[in-house]
Amino acid sequence: MRAIIAGTGGYLPERVLGNDQLAAEYGLDTSDEWIRGRTGIRQRHLAARGETASSMGAAAARQALEQAGIAVDEVDAIIVATTTPDSAFPSTAARVQAAIGARPGLAFDLSAACTGFIYALGMAESLMRSGAARCVLVIGTEIYSRIVDWTDRSTCVLFGDGAGAVVLRASDEEQERGLLSWHLHADGRHADILQVEGGAGSTGGAGLLRMSGREVFRHAVSKLAAVVDQALQANALDRSAVNWLVPHQANLRIIDAMGRKLGLPPERVVVTVDRHANTSAASIPLALAEAARDGRIKQGDLVLMEAIGGGLTWGAALARF
Ligand code: COA
Repeated sequence: MRAIIAGTGGYLPERVLGNDQLAAEYGLDTSDEWIRGRTGIRQRHLAARGETASSMGAAAARQALEQAGIAVDEVDAIIVATTTPDSAFPSTAARVQAAIGARPGLAFDLSAACTGFIYALGMAESLMRSGAARCVLVIGTEIYSRIVDWTDRSTCVLFGDGAGAVVLRASDEEQERGLLSWHLHADGRHADILQVEGGAGSTGGAGLLRMSGREVFRHAVSKLAAVVDQALQANALDRSAVNWLVPHQANLRIIDAMGRKLGLPPERVVVTVDRHANTSAASIPLALAEAARDGRIKQGDLVLMEAIGGGLTWGAALARF
């Protein structure tokens, strides 16, 4: 059995805020020059008051199904990677299921921060291999504008809102295509360098994101390099086999370092961080959707995805489109 990526979709809120506008609106002592120079971010999309992780996730899911040519009643499982759920329960996945009119089936949320989409791909394929599902919607959807501290210039400038989705379809015939492997890691000893302090079951904390940027950067460069090697070695593939790197979009400097490590020219690396900022679990499926829609990623291409985030969690996945 192969889990084929049959379709991709994305949703971005209408409101776009440039760096200078952001600084002015929130009274931040920062500049477009600082933000662009350190991160590559020029702007971000911010959700409207009535939008939620489920409403955005449902929009991305509908587009992915339409692009795949798969009817909603064929979906038998929904996994939503998010750390900004509509509510502690019901899950955002159950809300998406109802919103898109999918039939009752398996639906749950998964919390692995910015690595959430890679984790969700792995869990979806495991469900498919176990026989529990044949058609799975994998969604990453986030509203970080509601958990960043808008008075902390070192974090609030880095994030944006959005949703991305893929439809995975089980195939017993197409052995060349689909998800080739996934590699997931977590090390909770580093929990406090990137975290949301507080939550539904917590004893305190304001529910806001805190990050030691320099430390996260240091972990990112070494852990992503290692997990990318792990993915290539597991498939006995040389880095020259990779057609596209679709990385988590946190910082252009990290993305460029990974591209150089793989020996890929910049035009083979899908970049959205300049326009979307860091949309956490949504960033990879949004980037996949963009590159599939504009014709860059074609059937037969080998795509390498990698991410790191709070946990710490990190991982990579290789897929043949
Ligand atoms: N505007 C202007 N100055 C800012 C600023 C902002 N938005 N944010 C921080 N600064 C200042 C700091 O106060 C500090 O000033 P000081 O030297 O006077 O104390 C200075 O810039 C350097 O801060 P530092 O945090 O060391 O900068 P950096 O070069 O490490 O860049 C990040 C900061 C966040 C861009 C960088 O560390 C990073 O990208 N880390 C990884 C983050 C990441 O990927 N997170 C998500 C993982 S999913």
